[in-house]
Amino acid sequence: MLATIFKDIGALTAISGLLAVVLVLAERIFNNYGQCKININGKRDIEVKGGNNLLASLSDKQIYLPSACGGRGSCGACKCKVLEGGGPLLPTEKPFLSKAELAAGVRLSCQIKVKSDIAVEIPDSIFNIRRFDATIAEIIDYTHDTKGITFVLEPGESIDFKAGQYVQLLTEPYAKVRQRVSRAYSISSKPEDKDRLQLIIRLVPEGICTTWVHQYLKVGDKVSFTGPYGDFYLRDTDADILFVAGGSGKAPIKSILEHLEVVGTQRKMTYFFGARTLKDLYLTEEMRALEKVFPDFHYEPVLSQPAPDDNWSGKTGYVMRHFPDVIRDPQNTEAYLCGSPGMIDAVIKALTGLGVAKDKIYYDSFG
Ligand SMILES: Cc1cc2nc3c(=O)[nH]c(=O)nc-3n(C[C@H](O)[C@H](O)[C@H](O)COP(=O)(O)OP(=O)(O)OC[C@H]3O[C@@H](n4cnc5c(N)ncnc54)[C@H](O)[C@@H]3O)c2cc1C
Ligand code: FES
Repeated sequence: MLATIFKDIGALTAISGLLAVVLVLAERIFNNYGQCKININGKRDIEVKGGNNLLASLSDKQIYLPSACGGRGSCGACKCKVLEGGGPLLPTEKPFLSKAELAAGVRLSCQIKVKSDIAVEIPDSIFNIRRFDATIAEIIDYTHDTKGITFVLEPGESIDFKAGQYVQLLTEPYAKVRQRVSRAYSISSKPEDKDRLQLIIRLVPEGICTTWVHQYLKVGDKVSFTGPYGDFYLRDTDADILFVAGGSGKAPIKSILEHLEVVGTQRKMTYFFGARTLKDLYLTEEMRALEKVFPDFHYEPVLSQPAPDDNWSGKTGYVMRHFPDVIRDPQNTEAYLCGSPGMIDAVIKALTGLGVAKDKIYYDSFG
C-alpha cells in the first residue's frame, strides 16, 4: 500500500518536472521575439530585447514614463501614444482611456508587450526625468505608522522639481521579497533644497515598498529613485487656496508651503488636515508656525474619531463639513487635495457642490 503511494508520488513529481521543462522550453522557443526597434517621436530608434512590456523596455533605456502603481495597470499614469504596432487594446487599458485618447492611439505602456517593432510618441518633458542615487541622511518617526525620510543625492547631483511633484522609489529585494518594485512618493521638502529631498511614507500593512522602508532601511543606506513626475503643483494665480490632506497626503502640501515661505505670498490659504485620532496628527507645531509667517493662513486639523483620552477640543467629523465656514468666494478658489481615493472623491463632491469649479480642483490620489 505504502509502496504504491510512494510510486504514485514519484510519478507525479516526474510528470510535473517534465511539464516545467516543457514550459520553460516553450517560453524560450515561442516567446523569443529577438531584438525589436522602438521608434521615438519619429526621431530616433532604440533597440530592445522583445518580450518585455513597453514601460520596462523604455525604462531600461533611461526613458522613465510615470508609473505610480509600478506597472500593475491600476494607476493609468503610464500613458503614451502608440503610432504603430503594440497589438490590440487590452480590457485592462480601457477604463483609463477617454474617447479622445482611444481615438488618438493612447495606450498604457505597462500593458503593451513589445513583440515586434513599435513607434511611439513621448512628450519632451519625459526626457527630463532621471534616475538618482542617494543616501539616507535622516529618518524621523512622525507618528506610529508614518516616517519622514531625508535622502541626500550623490555629490554634485541636484534635482529640479515643482513643489507638489513626486518621485518613484525603487526597492531592493529584502527578506522573502525577491521582486524589485517602484512606488510613487510625493516630495515633502521644498524645491530650493536641490541636493536632498524628504519623503513622508506611511506604512501599509503587507505593503512591499512601505515594509522595506519602515522595517529595513536605515540611515546610511543607498537608494535609487526616478523623477520628478506629476502635475500636482501650485498654480500661479491670486485665487484663494484650500489645501486638504489626509495621512501621508501632507507631504506635497508641506513642500508647497515651505516653497511659499521662501518666495512669499499674500494669498488667503486654509489647510484642512484630516486624521482619525490625536496619534495620527504630526507636524502640527510646524504648521502652526507657518500661520505666523503668512498674512492669511489657517491650519485646521480635523479628527474624525478622537479617542476619549485625546481631550480634543478642535474640529471633528469629516473635513468637508467645515468647508462652508472658510470658502468665501467659490469661483475664486483653487483646491489642492492629497490622500486616499475615497477622501479625494468625497472632497471633490463637496467642493463642486459648494460652487468650486472642477477645473480648479487639483489632486494626487494615493490609491
Ligand atoms: C502620485 C502618488 C503619490 C503618492 N505619494 C505618497 C506619499 O507621499 N506617501 C505615502 O506614504 N504614499 C504615497 N503614495 C502611495 C504609494 O505610492 C504606495 O501605493 C503605498 O506606499 C503602498 O505601497 P506598498 O508597496 O507598500 O504596498 P503594495 O505592496 O503596493 O500594496 C499592498 C496592499 O495594500 C493595498 N494598498 C496599496 N496602497 C495602499 C494605501 N495607500 N492604503 C491602503 N492600502 C493600500 C494594495 O491594494 C495591496 O493590497 C502615493 C501614490 C501616488 C499615486
Ligand atoms: S504603471 Fe500604473 S497603469 Fe501602467
